[in-house]
Amino acid sequence: MNTLDAMRSRRNIRQFSDRAIPAKDLDQVLEMARRTPSGSNKQNWDFVVVTDRNQLQELSKVWQGARPVASSAATIGLVAPKVSDERASLGIQYDLGQVTMTIMVAAADLGIGSGHAWVQDQQLAQKVLGFPDDRFLAWMIALGYPADGPLKPIENLKRRPFDEVVHRGRW
Ligand SMILES: Cc1cc2nc3c(=O)[nH]c(=O)nc-3n(C[C@H](O)[C@H](O)[C@H](O)COP(=O)(O)O)c2cc1C
Repeated sequence: MNTLDAMRSRRNIRQFSDRAIPAKDLDQVLEMARRTPSGSNKQNWDFVVVTDRNQLQELSKVWQGARPVASSAATIGLVAPKVSDERASLGIQYDLGQVTMTIMVAAADLGIGSGHAWVQDQQLAQKVLGFPDDRFLAWMIALGYPADGPLKPIENLKRRPFDEVVHRGRW
């Protein structure tokens, strides 16, 4: 798929098929994630990749909205440093948003579906993933092949209209 079609085809996947993701495709997605730009090139992220079914099922319990993780072929946990400074925290969240979209577009390019998951239970997340005390699990990206059929460019887009969102020159 080319990049624009990958972006047109991406949608949140909440139920995945049993098909595994080839290791080389998963590594390509992670390599693209590693290339993501970040403020001052700080790269305040680590990627914890989980493919073990029992671990995925445990991980899916960190928040009720994280259920898609249970059926995913792989989930990438975005682990970031805990910071008290508000500006630094906002910067890290911005960078994590960029990583998220990089992962999702790279995955879609390879025909792999993806879904965001927030994290509530940090204790459980740390128990399952074993990251150090000065880090937290910021977000998870569940990956796999959609249970309801392959990704293809979306026709009926649920988005605000183009002319309402785009302001040219001034608001
Ligand atoms: C910051 C953020 C957090 C999200 N968290 C969750 C989540 O925890 N669980 C979930 O099922 N979807 C989650 N979503 C998915 C959104 O609901 C979804 O992207 C949105 O409805 C647009 O649909 P689309 O992704 O299919 O285009 C999240 C999306 C974003 C951007």
